[in-house]
Amino acid sequence: MSQRVTEVTAFLAEILTPRAPLTVIVDGGDHGAATRFAARLAAAFPPSARAWNVDAVLGLTGPSGGVLDSALNVLEPAADRVIVYLRSGPRGPAGVGERRAQVVIDNNDPQWPVIRELHPRLADPERWHLAESQAFFGPRAAGWDKKFGDDLPAYAEAVESAEPEPGDVVLDIGCGTGRALPALAAAVGPTGRVLGLDCTRNMLAEARAQGRDRSADLIQADARRLPLPDATAAVVFAAGLVHHLPDPAAGLAELARVTRPGGRLVLFHPSGRAALAARHGRTLTADEPLNSANLASLLDGAGWSLSRYEDDDDRFLALAVRL
Ligand SMILES: C[S@@+](CC[C@H](N)C(=O)[O-])C[C@H]1O[C@@H](n2cnc3c(N)ncnc32)[C@H](O)[C@@H]1O
Repeated sequence: MSQRVTEVTAFLAEILTPRAPLTVIVDGGDHGAATRFAARLAAAFPPSARAWNVDAVLGLTGPSGGVLDSALNVLEPAADRVIVYLRSGPRGPAGVGERRAQVVIDNNDPQWPVIRELHPRLADPERWHLAESQAFFGPRAAGWDKKFGDDLPAYAEAVESAEPEPGDVVLDIGCGTGRALPALAAAVGPTGRVLGLDCTRNMLAEARAQGRDRSADLIQADARRLPLPDATAAVVFAAGLVHHLPDPAAGLAELARVTRPGGRLVLFHPSGRAALAARHGRTLTADEPLNSANLASLLDGAGWSLSRYEDDDDRFLALAVRL
């Protein structure tokens, strides 16, 4: 029995039990996986909060109009409804299933489910974000550079766009295996300082295994609560981080706090948003934080001014200046 399935279902049962009576609908591209997960979730509720569970009663979505949901009722009659979407198997059209869900779980490896989104009405992100991010990225750390290693020149180019200068203090937040660190170190030279921060221990271990601790000090830290004084950095680099944060506005404000006035922020990804979404079997929606209008207003509210925005097939790059 997978430890992760136990952890995730126990956590969901814990936060949902006080909301009973309710109906929990487990939705997903793979009906078998949804049914199995619903059964595990039902078993995780305490007996006093467990009424009955029914398989495939609602059939709200499904690419071919088929019945894909598994519903589990907790203490009928239900006054509330919570939809849990399992990312596994084929996705529904335009991610409809995900969009109507309050809980999104990456279940591509059913032994290793990870909560990726959870509506703040159900639980404060403080209760799940770090642990679930670490569970998501930890097992992926060892193979990260084998999978994405060809992107290093693109990282160097993105670093250059912020024009770091010799002697600068620069940060790579959510640095992962540290693919940007050598370029940052080369730009600031021996009188500068580079810090690579990430919440996932295995990612930092992999950065050390690649020798990137020669380019930077590596620190395990939460991007939402950086262990740094105000106005520390001339340049903050963040690749593939912001859309993983449960509250991007608060995350950008924390990055602003540690940046000096006039300092620059680089938000980067070595593929464009549409290409990345397609790789994950999604289409882009208007409410995503990195869409140009949303990002400009998020940055504005967080103490930055957006100065450049590119979203091409082969890179996403947004540059902002600290006000
Ligand atoms: C998509 S990876 C990108 C890694 C690296 N920047 C790169 O481009 O190869 C996102 C990284 O953000 C880290 N991360 C996610 N949430 C975080 C948080 N709250 N604080 C610090 N790091 C976080 C993950 O551990 C992971 O290493």
